[in-house]
Amino acid sequence: MTASAVEIQSRTLAGYADASRLRQVQDRDWALDRVTGAPESLIDLGSGIGQLLEAALERFPTLRRAVGLERSEHRIAEAAARLLPYGERVALHRADLTAPEPLPFRADVITQTSVLHWLYPQEERIFAWAAAHLAPGGSFLLTTYHPARDEHGLGGEDEIVRDALVAVGTPYEEVPGVLARGGVLPIATRTRTVEDLTEVIGRHLRVAGHLERDAVVTVDGAEQYEHFHAATFGDYYSSLVPEDRRADFFRAVGESAWRRQRERGHVSHMPVRLWTLSPR
Ligand SMILES: C[S@@+](CC[C@H](N)C(=O)[O-])C[C@H]1O[C@@H](n2cnc3c(N)ncnc32)[C@H](O)[C@@H]1O
Repeated sequence: MTASAVEIQSRTLAGYADASRLRQVQDRDWALDRVTGAPESLIDLGSGIGQLLEAALERFPTLRRAVGLERSEHRIAEAAARLLPYGERVALHRADLTAPEPLPFRADVITQTSVLHWLYPQEERIFAWAAAHLAPGGSFLLTTYHPARDEHGLGGEDEIVRDALVAVGTPYEEVPGVLARGGVLPIATRTRTVEDLTEVIGRHLRVAGHLERDAVVTVDGAEQYEHFHAATFGDYYSSLVPEDRRADFFRAVGESAWRRQRERGHVSHMPVRLWTLSPR
């Protein structure tokens, strides 16, 4: 049996440059707008395909050192190609942010956009690491997503996945159990509440300020969302489905999103917070 194009995409998280226009890319300029002064060094945690680093290098000519830490080899390779023109101003390191290795310098700016929920339940380690790697007067600019959740801890993308699992044959009420047995933590559980995060962050850093926006996702058709899901969530959810039903699962994800778009005028919306964190 050959895998469908969208399954192959989900294994390599390909197509993110296009998919991220729907939601994540808006965090990039929002965060960089909060950078003050003339930074010489910046570390982006979960740097993906290097879009934030590229924008920062363009905006801040003073930046001598722009470092990306990222887990996915595919994404590092894409970032390396994108950032080639910036030569020695850039370094990309493969890293697991749940067990971050020390770097031999402190940065004027640390950024982390649309990543923190993947570090659950070990987010505290990255806050301790950031506290140890911020230069005096530096800022850690962090975005966090806060979808509403139901009594099973499901919300945001979990709701679209629930529709898709039902479409491929899972009874509606069994979906939370299927996720739990498959070791897939609902994304709305991974995205802790603002109150919980304030407490964890406060052990290591000072909250100097925050902004909020409503991230509204809209699409022009089912296929667009199918690809957004594959590029953003990879095979996180599709691994719950037998291989011979995965193409149907991705199609059903797209159809659920498109149905929501037609009924509500958007696929989803949720509050996003931009935190400005300083050394204590
Ligand atoms: C939704 S993408 C966000 C990418 C980029 N920061 C942006 O705003 O577009 C999440 C990124 O976090 C990375 N990631 C997830 N868990 C990670 C971990 N434990 N260590 C390092 N990177 C991780 C993923 O590979 C992916 O590139």
